[in-house]
Amino acid sequence: MRIDIFTLFPEWFGWLSSQRHVSNVLASGSSIECVNFREHTPLTGGQVDDTPFGGGAGMVLRVDVLDSALGARYGVPAERVREQRRVIALAPGGRLLDDALVDELAGESELTLLCGRYEGFDERIIEHFASDVVSIGRYVLSGGEPAAMVICDALMRKLPGALGHEESAEQESFSAALDGDPEYPHYTRPAEFRGWTVPEVLLSGHHARIEQWRRERSRERGLRLREGAGTDPSGR
Ligand code: 6GU
Repeated sequence: MRIDIFTLFPEWFGWLSSQRHVSNVLASGSSIECVNFREHTPLTGGQVDDTPFGGGAGMVLRVDVLDSALGARYGVPAERVREQRRVIALAPGGRLLDDALVDELAGESELTLLCGRYEGFDERIIEHFASDVVSIGRYVLSGGEPAAMVICDALMRKLPGALGHEESAEQESFSAALDGDPEYPHYTRPAEFRGWTVPEVLLSGHHARIEQWRRERSRERGLRLREGAGTDPSGR
């Protein structure tokens, strides 16, 4: 998979690329490349954003800057890029990222992520250049970069070779294998600590009963989530 990230802060993504599951995937032919808006602006002094028409706080990423940056990167007019690959604008009001959307994106061979800053994008960028608008939650970040990292992290671990042999993303929380439910609770040694014990069934060596116990716990957690609580039984 080839991911291009359009950002004002390309250096932030060095950390992401050094994470083990990401570097594993990058070593086997995938790529994460950053394009700095500032290097493609047609304006003087590296200007990329401007004050909003109609007044108000913050700065808005300019449509002419995106036109240049997308055109320069892909060698076709900016509005044609979304015919070839998904061009995802990151904004708090977009489609919420969940496991199904991560799977969908992990199936693409090429992706473009656009990170807005401050007040976000001139709406014409969304209308004419983006194929999707994606959000990682209903709160406002100061820029799309952390959201781009969340998407790359979640997506890369679904790709072959990301995790070691002993790990698998298949039975993870929210996966189809668990019918979309969160994962069951895990325990490891010591079997008893300060009088806190581990469920007996997990020490039994009885695989069918362990499987059944895990599936039940996972279902219970799914129910609690759908009722609006977290997975913790205390309701925290
Ligand atoms: Cl994708 N961008 C920004 N700026 N804020 C967000 C977000 C994205 N998702 C949640 N909050």
